[in-house]
Amino acid sequence: MNREKTKQKTRVFSGVQPSGDLHIGNYLGAIRRWAAEQYLKENYFCIVDMHAITVYQDPEVLRRKTRDVAALYVACGIDPAISTIFIQSHVPAHAECTWILNCVTPVGWLVRMTQYKVKSAVQESVSTGLLDYPVLQASDILLYDADEVPVGEDQKQHVELTRDIAQRFNRLYGETFVVPEPRLPASGARIRAFNDPTRKMSKSEAQVRGHAVRLVDPPDEIRMVIKRAVTDTGREIRFSDDPQKAGVNNLLEIYELLTAESRLDIEAHFAGKGYAELKEEVAEVIIEALRPIQERYQSLISDPAELDDILADGAARASAVAGPKVQEIKARVGFLQKKPCEGL
Ligand code: TYM
Repeated sequence: MNREKTKQKTRVFSGVQPSGDLHIGNYLGAIRRWAAEQYLKENYFCIVDMHAITVYQDPEVLRRKTRDVAALYVACGIDPAISTIFIQSHVPAHAECTWILNCVTPVGWLVRMTQYKVKSAVQESVSTGLLDYPVLQASDILLYDADEVPVGEDQKQHVELTRDIAQRFNRLYGETFVVPEPRLPASGARIRAFNDPTRKMSKSEAQVRGHAVRLVDPPDEIRMVIKRAVTDTGREIRFSDDPQKAGVNNLLEIYELLTAESRLDIEAHFAGKGYAELKEEVAEVIIEALRPIQERYQSLISDPAELDDILADGAARASAVAGPKVQEIKARVGFLQKKPCEGL
C-alpha cells in the first residue's frame, strides 16, 4: 500500500449512476452530506456511467443524464476546487482493476446481492455486467484507497462486499488495499416513495407521477406530489418506527433534515395540526431548499464549457491516483511490466 494513512486526510469515494432522474432521496441520503463534509476530507465523487449501462440506456439520454448528474453535484454544493468530480469511463483504471478483482471474487458472493436479485428478477435476459456490477463498484472504491464511502442504506451491502474483496486480495497478494467503511446517515438513509411508503424512493421510478420529488421539479409539481403523498388514516404527527406510520415519518424526516430542527421541536410545532398542514409545510421547505440548487443547475447546463472544464480537471486528478494504483495491483498479481518504448 502506498498511502501513509496517518499523515493524510480521510479519503472519501462515492458515486451516482446517471440513469433516471436524481431525487430528494439521492440528495438527502448521499450528495448533501458529501458537500457538507468535503472541506474536512479528500474527496472523489464519480458519475458512474459504466454502472448505468448494466441495463440498456439510450445513448443520447445517457450522455444528457451524465452531464445532468455532474451539474447537480456542483449545484448541490460540491466544490470542484476541493473535491474531484469525474466520469467513471474517463478513467480506464476502473475497467482494468475490475478484471483483476473479478478473478478473486467468487460468483456465489455476487448472486447473493439483494440489488442483483431484485433487478434480475424483472428482466428477461440478464447481462454479465449486471452480475458483475458490485465488482466494478469495489474497483471504484479500492483504486482510491478510500477510507469512507458515504451512501444510503441500499448501497451498504455493496460496500460490505468491497471489504470482503479487499481482504481476500490482501490475503492472497499482500497488503494492497485499504478496507473501507460504509457511512450511512443517522436520518435519511432510506427516503421512502411518496406513493408507497413501504418502498424506497428509486431513481428508476422517479418519472412515475407521485413517486418522488426530483431535484429539478418546479414548485407546483413538488406541491402536488407532497399533497398526494400516502400517509395513514390516523391524525398523529410524530416520528415513529411503526410501519403503519411510515408515510408520516418519511415526511417528518425530510422536514427534520431540511430544517435541522430537533425532533422534539418538530413534534411540538405540528401538535394539533392535521396532515394537510404537515404536507403544505414540507412542500415549502423542499421548494426553498431546492431553489438555489435549481438556479445553479440551470446556469451550468446552459454553459457547457464550465462543466467540461470541471470534468476534464476531475478526470486528470482521478487518473493521477487510480493510474499508479492499478500499476501496483498489476505488479501484485504478477503481470510483467511493459518496457518503455522510444517514441511511445
Ligand atoms: P445510486 O445512483 O442508485 O444512488 C446514489 C446514492 O443515493 C443513495 N440513495 C438513497 N438514499 C436515501 N434514500 C433513498 N431512497 C435513496 N436512493 C438512493 C444511494 O444509497 C447512493 O448513495 N451503486 C451505486 C453507485 C456507485 C457507488 C460506487 C457508490 C458506483 N460505484 C462507489 C459508492 C461508491 C448506485 O447505484 O447508487
